Amino acid sequence: MNWLRNTWYVAGFAEELPTGRMVARTLLGEPLVFFRNDKGELTALADRCPHRFAPLSGGTLCDGGASVQCPYHGLRFDAQGRCVHNPHGDGSIPKAAAVKAHPVRERDGLVWWWAGDPAAADEGLIPDYSHVTVAPEDATIRGLMPTGCHYQLLVDNILDLTHADFLHAGTLGSGALTRVKPEVTDLSERSLKVRWLSSGDAAPMAFDMHLKKQGQPTDQWTEVTWTAPGYMLLQVGATLQGESRESGVDTLNLHLATPETASTTHYWYWSTRNFAISPEANAHIRPMVEFAFSQQDKPMLEAQQRRIGDAEFWSLKPVLLAGDAAAVRARRKLAALMEAEGGGA
Ligand code: FES
Ligand SMILES: [Fe+2]
Repeated sequence: MNWLRNTWYVAGFAEELPTGRMVARTLLGEPLVFFRNDKGELTALADRCPHRFAPLSGGTLCDGGASVQCPYHGLRFDAQGRCVHNPHGDGSIPKAAAVKAHPVRERDGLVWWWAGDPAAADEGLIPDYSHVTVAPEDATIRGLMPTGCHYQLLVDNILDLTHADFLHAGTLGSGALTRVKPEVTDLSERSLKVRWLSSGDAAPMAFDMHLKKQGQPTDQWTEVTWTAPGYMLLQVGATLQGESRESGVDTLNLHLATPETASTTHYWYWSTRNFAISPEANAHIRPMVEFAFSQQDKPMLEAQQRRIGDAEFWSLKPVLLAGDAAAVRARRKLAALMEAEGGGA
């Protein structure tokens, strides 16, 4: 399987990695171990000891998290992946005793892992999500949902939100998205934006119930910014027709899709809103949000993957609809980026 290499992938929420804990996570088919030292610095190493291939993630952190000791025969590796301790024989370090170390950064509550040449790791390519992640906890719902599909199906899912009118009919869908033509704007070679604007429909139930008056005509906005390979910022909201956005209900949502393997995806969501900000409201809204993701999107994505099997997406000659404009352009941009790396699509 080919992947875009010279790019950052989300590896987790920062809170998944407190000091002293190791997290084993496969990204792009590569088993990795992540950990944080006493100074708060993160390390990402290949999770396979070069001696007899034991997972280092089953071992022990040493020297304040500066190194990890293999659980099988005790070799120790530092944050650069160099073997720094051999308890056997005269203690000399075998030349080949090293594991691959990857650049890793923490930004706005997210851990980002660089998949390519470490010398090319460019922090400027990490998308800025700070305006989402500053939302108060009582207005935030976030989670990790492992999903059994290729990550690009998840990107298609968020870039074509007309599916809300069918898959989430009655809660998140009002029918407006399907009738409106999406506007797609190129932002860069690795980013684009799509938006659907509508006027005159009542808002979907999940929004309507929080407006000043229910069942009234509204102005609605649904805007997604995609950044390669699998990162989406979705702003969706509604206001009473003719009123300002600020007087309505608005949400900012991150949909973060990182390939685990060719047919499985780590899907992190981070959903925030400008209304119903309290622990009680969060407790009430959380099951509705999670129902949509876990009981509607996830089963659909996994069912699509079962039907696609191992086939290459374009080889199946997918029919294209108006709502696909952004998803198709994103797939083409990704293919061009991979082509430029010499990896092909
Ligand atoms: S497998 Fe790691 S030290 Fe033997
Ligand atoms: Fe959905």
